[in-house]
Amino acid sequence: MSANLEHIQDAAETVRAKFAETPRVGMILGTGLSGLASQIDTSATLAYEEIPHFPLSTVETHTGQLVCGSLSGISIVAMEGRFHFYEGYSMQQVTFPIRVMKELGIEILLVTNAAGGMNPHYDLGDLVVIEDHINFMGDNPLIGPNDESLGPRFPDMCAPYDPQLIGLAQSAALELGIRAHRGVFVAVAGPNLETRAEYRMLRGWGADLVGMSTVPEVIVAAHAGLRVLAFSIVTDICLPDALEPVNIEEIIKIAGTGGERLAKIIPDVLRRIA
Ligand code: HPA
Repeated sequence: MSANLEHIQDAAETVRAKFAETPRVGMILGTGLSGLASQIDTSATLAYEEIPHFPLSTVETHTGQLVCGSLSGISIVAMEGRFHFYEGYSMQQVTFPIRVMKELGIEILLVTNAAGGMNPHYDLGDLVVIEDHINFMGDNPLIGPNDESLGPRFPDMCAPYDPQLIGLAQSAALELGIRAHRGVFVAVAGPNLETRAEYRMLRGWGADLVGMSTVPEVIVAAHAGLRVLAFSIVTDICLPDALEPVNIEEIIKIAGTGGERLAKIIPDVLRRIA
């Protein structure tokens, strides 16, 4: 089933009842970014259960609430916790919150995630500004009848990640003295990590990073005409000829250290947008 306009408006209405402002930026705070949530000057918080038609979050590291307020003087809504395809949600469920944030009035979507680093120049905990993606999830949130009021049937994917925002992010990182690469992100369905043969193949395709989120949300953002800025934190090193078993606790810990640096860059980027 494609996105349902009534459900989107219903959910947006519930958010508006608690937060009357029009947010300019919507954020998806992935693993490791809880520190950023605490920097938001919060006006209202809605648990996902309170918002009609929102799916419920199941992963322990994701709390599942929409934080509304301001950061660096810009009105924002931030998803603390996202929905993953591997949890069993449909692509429509995974991307429903993006539709709702668009309905609330956002112009920019800022996404963060934890990802495996396949580019040999990347170190653990490094930050990467995503400049392009490959959808290898085997599904697409835009499949089904297209509602022209939400976006075009065949959305352009020439530059889903806004070049100007990428530039701002890199300038902010440079001034803060934080290393930030630019890279291509490939999305897989998960939930298993990749085999050595798969990492070799994905690297050969031209991807620098691999992860299990972000691409569905960015496809819907592109469909909705939003400008996107996305960051990955490199939480494991995926070199096929030197691959070591990872443990999820370790990944979460590294996401936390990268997240602290990202929590400095993001408010700076917002200041540059203001
Ligand atoms: N593969 C897929 N998703 C991931 C990885 C990975 O190596 N690391 C963090 N998310």
